[in-house]
Amino acid sequence: MKAVAASIPTTLSGTFRRHTRAFFVGGVMLLTFQVAMNRIDRCSIWAIDSIFQGRASEAWKPGLAMLVLALFAFFCRIASRWFVFNAGRDVEYELRVVLLDRLHCLGTAFYRRMSVGDIMSRATSDLQQVRLLFGFGVLNIVNVIFAFGSAMQIMVVISVKLTLVSLANMPLLVVFTRTLSKSLYTRTRDNQETLGKLSEAVQSNLAGVRVVRSFALEPFERERFAKANAAYLKASLAIARLRGSLGPMVGAVSASGTLLFFWYGATLLLAGPANGGISQGQFFAFWQASMRMAWPMLALGFSIAMIQRGRAGFIRLKEVFDAEPEIVDGSSHPPAGFGGAITVRNLNFAYGTKNVLVGVTFELEAGQSLAIVGKTGSGKSTLAMLLARLLPTPEGTVFLDGLDVCTLPVKSVRQAIGYAQQDAFLFSSTVAHNIGLALDKPDTPEAAVLIERAAHEAQVYDDVQRLPEQFDTVVGERGVQVSGGQKQRIALARALLLSPKALVLDDPLSAVDAKTEAAILHAIEAHAKGRSVILITHRVAAAARCDRIVVLDAGVIVETGTHDELLARPGVYATFAEEQRRETALHALAHEEHL
Ligand SMILES: Nc1ncnc2c1ncn2[C@@H]1O[C@H](COP(=O)(O)OP(=O)(O)OP(=O)(O)O)[C@@H](O)[C@H]1O
Ligand SMILES: [Mg+2]
Repeated sequence: MKAVAASIPTTLSGTFRRHTRAFFVGGVMLLTFQVAMNRIDRCSIWAIDSIFQGRASEAWKPGLAMLVLALFAFFCRIASRWFVFNAGRDVEYELRVVLLDRLHCLGTAFYRRMSVGDIMSRATSDLQQVRLLFGFGVLNIVNVIFAFGSAMQIMVVISVKLTLVSLANMPLLVVFTRTLSKSLYTRTRDNQETLGKLSEAVQSNLAGVRVVRSFALEPFERERFAKANAAYLKASLAIARLRGSLGPMVGAVSASGTLLFFWYGATLLLAGPANGGISQGQFFAFWQASMRMAWPMLALGFSIAMIQRGRAGFIRLKEVFDAEPEIVDGSSHPPAGFGGAITVRNLNFAYGTKNVLVGVTFELEAGQSLAIVGKTGSGKSTLAMLLARLLPTPEGTVFLDGLDVCTLPVKSVRQAIGYAQQDAFLFSSTVAHNIGLALDKPDTPEAAVLIERAAHEAQVYDDVQRLPEQFDTVVGERGVQVSGGQKQRIALARALLLSPKALVLDDPLSAVDAKTEAAILHAIEAHAKGRSVILITHRVAAAARCDRIVVLDAGVIVETGTHDELLARPGVYATFAEEQRRETALHALAHEEHL
């Protein structure tokens, strides 16, 4: 998919060029259709004049020709729609692929700027508008041009003067549609923006439905939603008013042309062909041709609206297409396998102007374990994300087996480093699919073996066995149907699945009790010899199991050493350990008193 996405242009003209063939064939079909209609008009002159000139017995010939032409025109019309509408659908499909591809590589800076609700409205409503632009919009515009040419040819051949008279209102029509299309464009853009805000309100309400309920914020949220809804209604009505009046107004303007035709056309008909006038057949054919132009002219109004909406939609999509990804893929070839040694050298990182990590340096040999402890907000999660290249890691600061991670393809780094994030996220799918997320085919027996092994290692296997449908239990959106501790361990199993050479565990056990935590750490140590582990934790007991400990304070490493070394030294870690020791003692005391 990636290769496809990379080759898809993200400009309007580029998108059009990509489907030139379909549009061309569709155009040729439309042209053929309009030529056939032109011929039908000619046949009607022939048929009517034969009747009026006393040759009624010959009228079957043009009649038959009209029937054949009408059938042919019918097929051409269908074929033109087939080609152009299909191209519109293809454009929608391709742009959706690019959109998802972009959304996958864009970083936190982008998602801070654009909410999920807003992105969703771009991915649905705006994308649909673009499809209509390339389908209906293109079809109608091309049809208007050919219909105009085909009808004009008949009209001019019959009478140039009559043509000029009946088209006298054309400049009015042009000025009129141009003015309307401009205001339609701005109103459409406003409308799509308000829709984005509305879906944002809905999305955040749904995502935080429990919080909203528990704080009894429903009235407040209802009011916020009502405001967004009212703004959307107002913007939609503004468009509906304009669009609703567009058809009748264009209709009225073209009706004035009809009036002119009857006035001057009747004069020419009464004069007759012998005196510079026109025949009955010509009168009818002229009328028929001018009517044939009326509908495309009316449709022009809709097409302009569609094109304006499509353009507005495309511009909103371009904001996503053109957003710069923060994390750039490295180009060097990754080695066949990694050992798992991690080196961090003078790593500085800031969110905007806020420095979060300053001069962080440490080394972890393959197969060793390192605990990172520190107060909340000291930069531990940021460091973990930088290691896995989930944030823009600065060049020359993080090395995997001595290779700068920025020079390696992001995919290979993420495969080598298993990462369990602090707030475990589960997809609304089965337990098996959540654990086997990284597998191409998670439903095969081989995959099941891997999934079960990872579940054992993360000490969640027994819990899963107790679920109603074991590994096939659907966990609900964001995992609402499993407990916090189970969720964490399912997410941990996901990180363990492919036995990565390095594991970065960001406080993955905060929601499990100390005993389970010890069992998990024991399993991780036992299962994979030679795997390096970075464990971010708040528990001294967990940190003590690691070969080495670094203590982060406000983004700076303030202490480093083994558990015993750090305990022997007065400092953050020793204080931390003392606090936890007292807490545990207090708990034990309270427990005894209870007994
Ligand atoms: N996306 C972000 N944008 C701006 N600032 C951020 C962002 N993420 C974190 N920060 C800030 O960076 C600092 C470090 O955050 P980080 O999440 O790394 O801390 P932490 O040590 O993992 O804390 P905890 O123990 O609570 O998980 C905090 O002050 C936080 O407010
Ligand atoms: Mg954190």
